[in-house]
Amino acid sequence: MCGIVGYTGTDPGLSALDVVLGGLRRLEYRGYDSAGVALQTPDGIVMLKRSGKLARLTEALEAEPLPAAVTGIGHTRWATHGGPTDDNAHPHVGTGGAVAVVHNGIIENFATLKAELQADGVDFASQTDTEVAAHLLAREYATTGDLSSAMCAVARRLEGAFTLLAVHGDVPHTLVAARRNSPLVVGLGEGANFLGSDVAAFIAHTRDAIELGQDQVVTITPHSVSITDFLGAPVQGKPFHVDWDASAAEKGGYPTFMAKEINEQPHAVADTLLGRTDVAGRLTLDELHMDEQVLREIDKIVVIACGTAAYAGQVAKYAIEHWCRIPVEVELAHEFRYRDPVVDQRTLVVAISQSGETMDTIMAVRHARELGARVIAVCNTHGSTIPRESDAALYTHAGPEVAVASTKAFLAQITACYVLGLYLAELRGTKSREQVGEVMAQLQAMPDKIAKVLQGLDQVRRMARWMADTRSVLFLGRHVGYPVAMEGALKLKELAYIHAEGFAAGELKHGPIALIEPGQPVFVIVPPPDEPHSLHGKVVSNIQEINARGARTIVIAEEGDDDVVPYASEVIRIPASPVLLSPLLAVVPLQVFACELASAKGLDVDQPRNLAKSVTVE
Ligand code: M6R
Repeated sequence: MCGIVGYTGTDPGLSALDVVLGGLRRLEYRGYDSAGVALQTPDGIVMLKRSGKLARLTEALEAEPLPAAVTGIGHTRWATHGGPTDDNAHPHVGTGGAVAVVHNGIIENFATLKAELQADGVDFASQTDTEVAAHLLAREYATTGDLSSAMCAVARRLEGAFTLLAVHGDVPHTLVAARRNSPLVVGLGEGANFLGSDVAAFIAHTRDAIELGQDQVVTITPHSVSITDFLGAPVQGKPFHVDWDASAAEKGGYPTFMAKEINEQPHAVADTLLGRTDVAGRLTLDELHMDEQVLREIDKIVVIACGTAAYAGQVAKYAIEHWCRIPVEVELAHEFRYRDPVVDQRTLVVAISQSGETMDTIMAVRHARELGARVIAVCNTHGSTIPRESDAALYTHAGPEVAVASTKAFLAQITACYVLGLYLAELRGTKSREQVGEVMAQLQAMPDKIAKVLQGLDQVRRMARWMADTRSVLFLGRHVGYPVAMEGALKLKELAYIHAEGFAAGELKHGPIALIEPGQPVFVIVPPPDEPHSLHGKVVSNIQEINARGARTIVIAEEGDDDVVPYASEVIRIPASPVLLSPLLAVVPLQVFACELASAKGLDVDQPRNLAKSVTVE
């Protein structure tokens, strides 16, 4: 969590404060408890920080303007150690106020270090773990007179997760940063360089970037970037080019990022399918760089992910098992890591993550690799930790997802997992090239169908508005509709702060049906009528059962499926599709419902309370 941005340039017309605030605005999705900036001026470091959203800081900056500067750092916070107060907001300064530091992560040994510093007479101004790093850096710099080696020395003393970014009043035009277990990328400009938690921090200025590895320190000036390990030995960063621009990270006329991202879903799916077939129509995943023999020999797939990404994995399980005849387990990454999982060299682990920085998933990836498994990352963010630490990566091409609630990434993750499943099926001979080609053609038809769903959602918007006072909503689904039901419930919980649960419809009679009372809203995701296992009829029976007990049934069903009509209070129509692909359609009305209901309640849809976009702590 937390967003970090740093800038140093030579153009006196480009204010460091403007660059840093622009970066913070794009990173605010990472955390929004407090924000602060520090600038390097001829008179030393000047700083301003405020609790609350970035807007409070910008108001304060108007009231108390800072002097002009061409080098500066900024931070937007998701509080861990110490509540969201002005004092705990970053930057933090070391003794004497010459060095300012911002931090993302958790310094696990901060209590020991703090006691050591206090014993040396250091006074602390905050309750944060970060302030320890600021004081240590001030002390090391006073000894060595070299900011980069001082940062290396500090990094060697810290345990846990950290990206630290520092600016010193005595070292002009220079920023130094260190990273371990938290994200940091370098942006390369002309006579200017940047640092950011992700490329959104500097996308308005450059699309050329360098990813940093684990345990590295980077020093930037306007004309140089030098990277070392924590011992000071030079290392090479990995350059990359960002394939989207600043406009993709703006709202583009939509009231919220979430609304924009929901509407981008046809593109997210189409772009994730792009370039996956060769001229002969064969599915190719060149980017995987994984030995085909290894993939032929795997005997189990374990999907690890959290939140929405885990629900994408649960959807993919149905498809991959069906196509590949390999058992697929889906496990929450934080549970996988700590339960002694049965994983070996013949296990393929698929780590799904939009951000590529979810700490629970990173730790699970590391654990899986220690156990000998091969790991494929399904990820939306180039330069992030999870693909870098995996054996191979399959990128989703959803574009930047800014709203905290994940939408287009979910559809892109399902799509990428399906492509992977089909590739494995062909490779292992469980599906012929023709059969794989048929499913690919069905997938390629999905963007138009998603666009059609998006065009017909006025009814959902109206419903959401009159249901703004609802206190509880249930979601039922079966087969691939079950994870869709859970995803619908998650969206409503996180955005509208309403109690919501997703159930497997078949489980209803084993307990949850007791929750049904007159007027209880229940969304039901109905499988296509022609799916092969007669699930459709069983779900229609479930609707009858809850309808008979007074539930308000809101049914998502295929166009032309009239069996549901007698028992439905509302029917939301989606185009016909094969059952395995239907989640790409059925989830869309649920996303829109949650977004609209939260808006109707006057809530902040893009930045719901207590949350952050990337959960970079365990
Ligand atoms: O970046 P990731 O995909 O790893 O994030 C995983 C979850 O934290 C994320 O999907 C979260 O559940 C969303 N806020 C849900 O909308």
